[in-house]
Amino acid sequence: MRQQLPEGYPANVAIILDGNGRWAKKRGLPRSLGHRQGCQTLEQIIRDANDLGLNTLTVYGFSTENWKRSAEEVGALMNLFRYYMKRIIGIAIDGNVRIRMIGEKSRFAPDIIQGIDDMEAKTAHCDGMTLVIAINYGGRDELTRAARRMAEEAAKGELNPEEITEQTVAAHLDTAGLPDPDLMIRTSGELRLSNYLLWQLAYAEFYVTDVLWPDFDKDELVRACEAFKARDRRFGGVKK
Ligand code: IPE
Ligand code: IPE
Ligand code: MG
Repeated sequence: MRQQLPEGYPANVAIILDGNGRWAKKRGLPRSLGHRQGCQTLEQIIRDANDLGLNTLTVYGFSTENWKRSAEEVGALMNLFRYYMKRIIGIAIDGNVRIRMIGEKSRFAPDIIQGIDDMEAKTAHCDGMTLVIAINYGGRDELTRAARRMAEEAAKGELNPEEITEQTVAAHLDTAGLPDPDLMIRTSGELRLSNYLLWQLAYAEFYVTDVLWPDFDKDELVRACEAFKARDRRFGGVKK
């Protein structure tokens, strides 16, 4: 059941779900099985985040750099997308969760593009939590595409360069209309952004845990929210 977000908890959370490969390696399993377990965890965390009362949950599923991995691993990930996209539509509709994709989808196979379109179309009526799925997403790629679109609009006389504000830039990003994350969680201990939401995380609080993504659960999510609650967000100002 979706509850009211506890006082002081972050309404908008972004996650870098990292560590599937290490989880598999620890068990002597192929990396693809780590990814499969990671997808199971994602299903459960979507339910948990929705029950907790989050406004948006943004998850990093595949970066513009992840194409560098072996054809075997990329192929396994694509097959997992095919399978889990359908399941996640069901979970989303059950939980009144709206799905939005960010990233550049034209590089995917036609059936995956169709799956992404279905996720968005079939949950467009939902008005509870918004689940943002970043696949073939890179912050630099997103900013580059936004700059190109603004330049095209300016060349056509639809946009006056003098009038470009931060709001104009934000409105040209894949995340147009979505709130910035309050909290960014990274699993598996790495202290870097890996090209995630470069613009949107400008003032997010960071929380890094050594827990590997397949082992992440609601208790871990709550722990991250509690850590957030204890933070002092100043946004460049001075504490009162
Ligand atoms: C995260 O797990 C999932 C994706 C990047 C697709 P990794 O595959 O990066 O796992 P590690 O970092 O190798 O453990
Ligand atoms: C970031 O994880 C991308 C996703 C979780 C989808 P990576 O595992 O690709 O990041 P690096 O390579 O450790 O920076
Ligand atoms: Mg990784």
